[in-house]
Amino acid sequence: MRSLPLLRRRGVTAGLTCALLFAAACAGPASAAPPVRSPLASEVHPVVEDDGLALTPPMGFNNWNSTHCRPEFNETMVKGIADIFIAKGLKEAGYEYVNLDDCWALPQRDADGKLVPDPDRFPNGIKAVADYVHSKGLKFGIYTSAGTKTCDRIGFPGGLGHEYSDARQFADWGVDYLKYDNCYNQGVDAKKRYTTMRDALKATGRPMVFSICEWGENKPWEWASDVGHLWRTTGDINDSWGSTLAIMKKNLPLHAYAKPGNWNDPDMLEVGNGGMTDTEYRTQFSMWSIMAAPLLIGSDLRQADDKTFEILGNREVIAVDQDPLGKQGEVISSEAGRWVVAKEMADGSRVVALFNEADRPQRIATTASDVGLPQSRGYRMRDLWKHTDAGIADTIAATVPAHGTVLIRLWADRDSKSYPPALEAGQTRAWFAEADVPAEMSTTVTNHGRRKADSVSVDLTGPAGWTIVSASRTVAEALSTGKTLRTKWRVKAPAGTRPGAYDLTLSVAHRSPEGVRLVQQEPVAANIVVLPPQGVSSLSATPWLSASNGWGPVEKDLSVGESAPGDGRPLTIGGTRYTKGLGVHAPSVVEYYLGGECSSFSAMVGLDDETGVRGTAGFEVWADGRRIAATGVLTNVMPAQQLSAGVSGAETLRLVVTDGGDGMSYDHADWADATLVC
Ligand code: GLA
Repeated sequence: MRSLPLLRRRGVTAGLTCALLFAAACAGPASAAPPVRSPLASEVHPVVEDDGLALTPPMGFNNWNSTHCRPEFNETMVKGIADIFIAKGLKEAGYEYVNLDDCWALPQRDADGKLVPDPDRFPNGIKAVADYVHSKGLKFGIYTSAGTKTCDRIGFPGGLGHEYSDARQFADWGVDYLKYDNCYNQGVDAKKRYTTMRDALKATGRPMVFSICEWGENKPWEWASDVGHLWRTTGDINDSWGSTLAIMKKNLPLHAYAKPGNWNDPDMLEVGNGGMTDTEYRTQFSMWSIMAAPLLIGSDLRQADDKTFEILGNREVIAVDQDPLGKQGEVISSEAGRWVVAKEMADGSRVVALFNEADRPQRIATTASDVGLPQSRGYRMRDLWKHTDAGIADTIAATVPAHGTVLIRLWADRDSKSYPPALEAGQTRAWFAEADVPAEMSTTVTNHGRRKADSVSVDLTGPAGWTIVSASRTVAEALSTGKTLRTKWRVKAPAGTRPGAYDLTLSVAHRSPEGVRLVQQEPVAANIVVLPPQGVSSLSATPWLSASNGWGPVEKDLSVGESAPGDGRPLTIGGTRYTKGLGVHAPSVVEYYLGGECSSFSAMVGLDDETGVRGTAGFEVWADGRRIAATGVLTNVMPAQQLSAGVSGAETLRLVVTDGGDGMSYDHADWADATLVC
């Protein structure tokens, strides 16, 4: 029997809860995004919604991602967030809505059928909080569900059948924004449910942004442009790389449906919640902005660190999200985890995201014409995270760190020669070495500007104790357009360095046309590894290079438990228990270093028995970027399958679990008895 919290959470992902909790209540399962026509740059822009709301994607805060239903979600928190919006300049940066999510009410309506604020959380009622938020010049939002109950396990009263009176109550409290969820919907047609609430909101006469939250189940992008201002396109996000990536991939193809007054909503920000790296959070913020997604902060800003404020407060990135043309960026290319996404801006410029999905740094390149810019003698390129300008001839390229995004804005500019030339710098291939063993690393610096770069020099530095010496040229008197300075280095990590990924810094200096010395710094990844043991060994005893998971951490010798390390249960497939192996949640990627020393890999794979009826997954084995073995889609009623592959000569082994094509709902997947022969 699965625990209640799991069941509750499933209510909001791709339909499993529907099967388990409210079978008759839910509409059909989510289906894949339709092929979407690419809008042409010359197309007339769609007509603006006539109510004048959400002409750019809503920005603000919502407590759900940081508190869920916990008691710290209360009046003090909400007021504290409003205060921080002012104190930290977030209001000035554009953040406007302070929104309550589920759990603000009591489980029962009063004798008059009215919603009652929870007196423990909101002792002064909701209006008092709304008034406080308004007194700061901000706007106030609330939540309920287009069903008989809300989505939290307790199930607070929902709006179905109470639309007009609830909307009236919200308007009387001074609500400016309503998020309207999908639980306990009793099988009533979604369009009908959301349209009724739209009409009820309109009938109050108070302008309220209407956020449709039916998880993309009924393709609201196809019918809701005159119903709501934004619509969720996916199930719930969680604070993990796997979840963020899966959601991003579902939302990207829907670019043609976004416009002023109508936005695709890939769910709220996780920036600052602690489950991802700063690089990954910068990627979420960059990609949400280029997708013109709502920017609703989901972390408790009262405890946020400087990095979090720096990311959320990056005005150059916010300007991408808030551009008045209201286009969602579209995918220009995507191959081997190298994504190029471009967004047309109102001033004719383009914003380009070079996003690296892979677990290793990769070079990602495109051209000014590929991203839709007109022919020009040159282009100005602004790096929106480094806040620097450079000139380019045509090529846009960067070595992008694992899970990172380089976000740039480009203008056709005949005078681009007046900017320093853009220099692309990075390592040429992934670098692995054991501690205390020197290994060669290569770096390159390439000039993509229209003018030559003068007095170019490179330096590579690492953490304390590392030895790094150049083994070839580190300077070039001049580097003309398209030319590259290649440098070899001998790099050694001190004895005892723990296995893992370390950042080295590649510093590139050159002299600007005005004679100013310019320095740029790029991270370079160094992976310290241990060789797998000789003979037959359990993979769960070997340290991985990297691991990402749809929910919670990857588990060793346990199934995935979805929250903290070690919270899983014994690995069990088809009634058989396994003492060794990995427990993951789709989508998942776990990578190992083999160093060319191993000959074969094998495992018994399948959905863990704890998976619900609709759990599905596909298992894949990759060696050095090549898929060498795979299952079809497996379900929880299938017995374990043996998956084996020869890995002779391979440097890395990657174990991939896909969601089986039906969303990442409760896909607990086991690599039982995962074994290496080396
Ligand atoms: C659903 C929504 C979430 C959140 C919770 C609250 O899961 O999709 O965003 O509002 O309900 O219970």
